[in-house]
Amino acid sequence: MTSDQAILVTGGAGYIGSHVVRQLGELGRPVVVLDNLSTGFKEAVLAGEHVVGDTGDRALVEALLKKNRVRAVMHFAAHTVVPESVANPLKYYSNNTCNTRTLLECCSAAGVQHFIFSSTAAVYGVPTEKRVNEESETRPINPYGSSKLMSEQMLRDLAHISPLRYVTLRYFNVAGSDPMCRIGQSTPNATLLIKVACEAAVGRRQTVSIFGTDYPTPDGTGVRDYIHVEDLAGAHIKALDYLEAGGDSTLLNCGYGHGYSVREVLETVERVHGHPLTIREQPRRAGDPPTLVAAAERIKNVLGWIPKHDDLDAIVRSSLAWETKRRY
Ligand code: UD1
Repeated sequence: MTSDQAILVTGGAGYIGSHVVRQLGELGRPVVVLDNLSTGFKEAVLAGEHVVGDTGDRALVEALLKKNRVRAVMHFAAHTVVPESVANPLKYYSNNTCNTRTLLECCSAAGVQHFIFSSTAAVYGVPTEKRVNEESETRPINPYGSSKLMSEQMLRDLAHISPLRYVTLRYFNVAGSDPMCRIGQSTPNATLLIKVACEAAVGRRQTVSIFGTDYPTPDGTGVRDYIHVEDLAGAHIKALDYLEAGGDSTLLNCGYGHGYSVREVLETVERVHGHPLTIREQPRRAGDPPTLVAAAERIKNVLGWIPKHDDLDAIVRSSLAWETKRRY
């Protein structure tokens, strides 16, 4: 890639996309962000040019790819709230699946060579294994997971008949912020555990709920593989390096390979913050699997990715710092 060929980052004003844009900027890579600001924040775009628009806007995407001689695309733009996807499935298939189809068509026509796709552990549904690997069965149990799995399949099928090569990254549970707290998660009405617990710790909400205490797990609460957003962003940089070095298309879990229960997370927030939380035990939340933990060997072997923040205390400290300082 020559220096005038920009990387197109859809959803680059969102939580994970903005961390990748910042890291690309620090590496001196030219970036164009396409984000309609439906859930992102313009303040979160710390590098490159930001175009406010929709991934499904074919004319705009065609023009951006051409003008910036784009050879690599990172596609983050998506709706991500699982319960909302159950209540409004077509919204999810429209934005996450149909718009991805349009983007892929434009990429193919414009000769884009490398595509990095944000997928999710939600494609696994309720796994039967203790740790899910990339060959584990995909049986999503909500439209969010289905909308992402359909996009994975389109990308795979397109790459099969074209020169496009891709890395699909299946994210597990992402938390934390950048070390200087310039960007972090600000989703309104967030439902994610660490986010909610940190909001409660700093007084933005009164209580935290534990959804389900009767799961078949060591302490009865749900177990997840929590990954620091800085490490996840780093995986995207590694994925781009890999494709640019000629790597084959691949599919990779993004997690650390071990899980923490809801109670362990809440205890960590209390310990790191130094104050007790007001915790309410509630019935299970619909659609939550008991345990979702990545088999995380492949990403290390294929990309040479080495996590730097595999430490729940550090993840919570980073999330708490953002919650204390955030300006948007
Ligand atoms: C999140 C992602 C999903 C992704 C999945 C991968 C979102 C909205 N969801 O879902 O896309 O596929 O990670 O694992 O981005 N919990 C509580 N109290 C709360 C909130 C959550 O007890 O207030 C529990 C849940 O029941 C679950 C665990 O905490 O056991 C994690 O939940 P959450 O942080 O919402 O993430 P996921 O549902 O796993």
